[in-house]
Amino acid sequence: MTVSYKQASETDIEDIAPLVEALGYDFNFAVVYKTFKSLQTRGDSLVIATSNGQILGMVQTLVDVRIAEGISGEIVSLCVLPSFRSKGIAKNLINTARAILVSKGCSTLRVRANDERKEVKDIYIRIGFEHIKKQNVLMQKIVQ
Ligand SMILES: CC(C)(COP(=O)(O)OP(=O)(O)OC[C@H]1O[C@@H](n2cnc3c(N)ncnc32)[C@H](O)[C@@H]1OP(=O)(O)O)[C@@H](O)C(=O)NCCC(=O)NCCS
Repeated sequence: MTVSYKQASETDIEDIAPLVEALGYDFNFAVVYKTFKSLQTRGDSLVIATSNGQILGMVQTLVDVRIAEGISGEIVSLCVLPSFRSKGIAKNLINTARAILVSKGCSTLRVRANDERKEVKDIYIRIGFEHIKKQNVLMQKIVQ
């Protein structure tokens, strides 16, 4: 199986529905399309893995700019379709994302793994990440 890695364009949005759902979210085309346009405007990228016209995996890059910590690359929304896992697709998606973030001036790459998904942290460590800290994430609704 030959898998290609490239930045997604708006014509790919409909086909990422199974990946959004595999991450545990509902897929609403209008919402995801608008989000994709916003991430493009910010200069972020959505990298996809494709084979025979099917999208098998995705990862989003973002550049996190903080006054105290500096500029760091981050990957979010990494997902590979269940029947295509353990074939190195996530590793290649991350390699592609890493190259994009290096080209944007990032010298470190960060990922946040949900503590409830124990195996995911192990996968990142296999890929070369180092566990640096545990955090609590809090949220507040600011528009009713
Ligand atoms: C996490 C996920 C993206 C991994 O995708 P994948 O394509 O199967 O990963 P890869 O095949 O590239 O594997 C990368 C490394 O992790 C290892 N690995 C893969 N699955 C593993 C598992 N379940 N447990 C432990 N290690 C695993 C592989 O052996 C490989 O290591 P190696 O290079 O030393 O052999 C995929 O399981 C997934 O989509 N999960 C659901 C969504 C999710 O949890 N995303 C992460 C959000 S933070």
